Amino acid sequence: NERTFIAIKPDGVQRGLIAEIISRFERKGFKLVAIKIMVPSKEFAQKHYHDLKDRPFFNGLCGFLSSGPVIAMVWEGEGVIRYGRKLIGATDPQKSEPGTIRGDLAVVVGRNIIHGSDGPETAKDEINLWFKPQELVNYISNEEKWIYGVN
Ligand code: GTP
Ligand code: MG
Repeated sequence: NERTFIAIKPDGVQRGLIAEIISRFERKGFKLVAIKIMVPSKEFAQKHYHDLKDRPFFNGLCGFLSSGPVIAMVWEGEGVIRYGRKLIGATDPQKSEPGTIRGDLAVVVGRNIIHGSDGPETAKDEINLWFKPQELVNYISNEEKWIYGVN
């Protein structure tokens, strides 16, 4: 069961876009298996973005992620890691296609409202960083047989 880590950053939360963003993943047919709201510490944000530690915007990025409440989520479904990134759109909202979350709802790269894991390894690492195993819920949704066509 493929899973990915998705976070609504403080700008998305402050702008009242939580339901809009969740709705796009939900309507696609992906399944929400973990969710919480939290204000990450700066140290936690640095762990989350450790791959970017040598970039000039790293400090500002980690300061921003820790500046307010974040919605942390795990979504499950076939192809959810790659397709979740498609739903999100390109990193720079100026380059994100219309119809994507960033394309429709954000304007600049430093305030692009949402994060999504960029591959299977980062998905695993990020889920482990943000959630304890017992915070992930296993369940069968009644819609799955209509989404996947299996009985
Ligand atoms: P995430 O899903 O947030 O990880 O975005 P991404 O995978 O599309 O991009 P990446 O991991 O390369 O960068 C992480 C975050 O750093 C981005 O979402 C942006 O918020 C921020 N970022 C990336 N590039 C720039 C940049 O050139 N300038 C600024 N200010 N922020 C950037
Ligand atoms: Mg990234």
